[in-house]
Amino acid sequence: MTNTIRVPFLAFLFCSLFLLSSCKKDETTSAAAATQSTPAVSAAFGTAIDLNALPNYAAQTIPSYITKDNGMANVITNKKAAIGRVLFYDKKLSTANSISCASCHLQQFAFSDTATASIGVNGTTGRHAMRLVNARFANEPRFFWDERAATLEAQTTRPIQDHAEMGYSGADGDPALSVLLTKLQGVEYYKELFTAAYGDAAVTEVRMQECLAQFIRSIQSFDSKYDAGRAAAGNDQAPFLNYTPQENQGKNLFFAPPQFDGAGNRTSGGAGCAGCHAGPEFDVDPRSLNNGVIGKIGGGTDVTVTRAPSLRDVVKADGTANGPFMHIGASSQLITVINHYDSIVVTGNTNLDPRLRPAGNPQRLHLTQQEKDALIAFIRTLAGTNIYTDAKWSDPFVK
Ligand code: HEC
Ligand code: HEC
Repeated sequence: MTNTIRVPFLAFLFCSLFLLSSCKKDETTSAAAATQSTPAVSAAFGTAIDLNALPNYAAQTIPSYITKDNGMANVITNKKAAIGRVLFYDKKLSTANSISCASCHLQQFAFSDTATASIGVNGTTGRHAMRLVNARFANEPRFFWDERAATLEAQTTRPIQDHAEMGYSGADGDPALSVLLTKLQGVEYYKELFTAAYGDAAVTEVRMQECLAQFIRSIQSFDSKYDAGRAAAGNDQAPFLNYTPQENQGKNLFFAPPQFDGAGNRTSGGAGCAGCHAGPEFDVDPRSLNNGVIGKIGGGTDVTVTRAPSLRDVVKADGTANGPFMHIGASSQLITVINHYDSIVVTGNTNLDPRLRPAGNPQRLHLTQQEKDALIAFIRTLAGTNIYTDAKWSDPFVK
């Protein structure tokens, strides 16, 4: 009897002591890891990247009315997002060590480019560089203007493998992606960064995709005049108390669907923009077909474009465009966009969204100048300020 009690008790005692000591050991190990010195990272980035004091990518404040999230399968961590930042700004990702993702996606333009076509290692892009704003908060999980990348992860290594953009295509005499992976694996700061995040220094395509996608999904913009109004009003329909009458009118026009007569003329209602650019995310409706802009940079026809990035920060609050609009960089003036939707052209378009062709007729909104100005005033309220300057999304190579 005594024995049967004593044995488990001793065993318990032994185990607790063992656990205690192994616990202690764990703490020491992780404490050591937390203050682990990363000399190559310090040498390359100074205080811009400090693995012991990373900026907050993982737990940023997201407004309660934002409900969409396409990043559930690759949850943001500070370490991987920080690696994503380094990769995003690293010119080593191109064959000539001359072009980084940020060469075409510039923070001061909401990660777009003011050039219509951006310059890569072997030529210029066929479409306009897209803004990278709130990419995480969208129903449409596919990326690129024509949605050819099934996920953001899949998208991120495509520009690297594009002959014109970054050059590791593995065709036309270009080196393959595997050559880049070996090259990056030889870089001391990547050895330290990948070891810190993954436990070993291997640089794989999947790891690059995870990190780049986490960095891009961390780029969020919720400090606009719209957000202040939306938070206070609790919905998009009520007038926003912080808006001018003109901005509230523009909001109504943006959100309300139009009613048409049998010939495509608007008889009442709004401009129907939210049918495809739904608030409060202003992401594109996954079912959207093209919007009637079917040109190509340099001439030709392209009816495959069915995606737009979030309309947030399409212009800055002062109305300055963050680069020309649409996949062809059609114009930097919002009035041109409004006039386009006011009078849709259907000729030669086999993929026009039916919403822009009511009862088979090209949409005619017949917006007055006053209504057009109101729509523009509303779109300007979608611009934030922090996205353009926040150091955690800036170039870490500038010490
Ligand atoms: C040479 C210029 C250039 C470079 C370099 C470049 N991009 Fe892009 N990016 C573009 C263009 C142009 C598009 C639109 C292309 C299309 O849809 O056909 C685009 C689209 C994107 C999109 C899609 C956004 C959306 O909402 O669908 C993402 C994400 C993106 N780029 C991330 C990156 C990353 C990550 C890198 C670096 C690995 C990179 N880009 C390098 C020009 C560039
Ligand atoms: C049927 C769906 C649909 C409707 C309705 C619609 N859009 Fe669009 N919008 C799109 C698509 C798709 C694109 C991308 C087109 C392209 O680049 O060729 C786009 C692009 C844009 C852009 C350019 C975005 C960029 O990143 O360059 C703006 C601005 C815009 N729309 C505003 C509006 C406004 C304002 C309205 C209402 C008057 C509206 N849209 C109605 C589908 C729609």
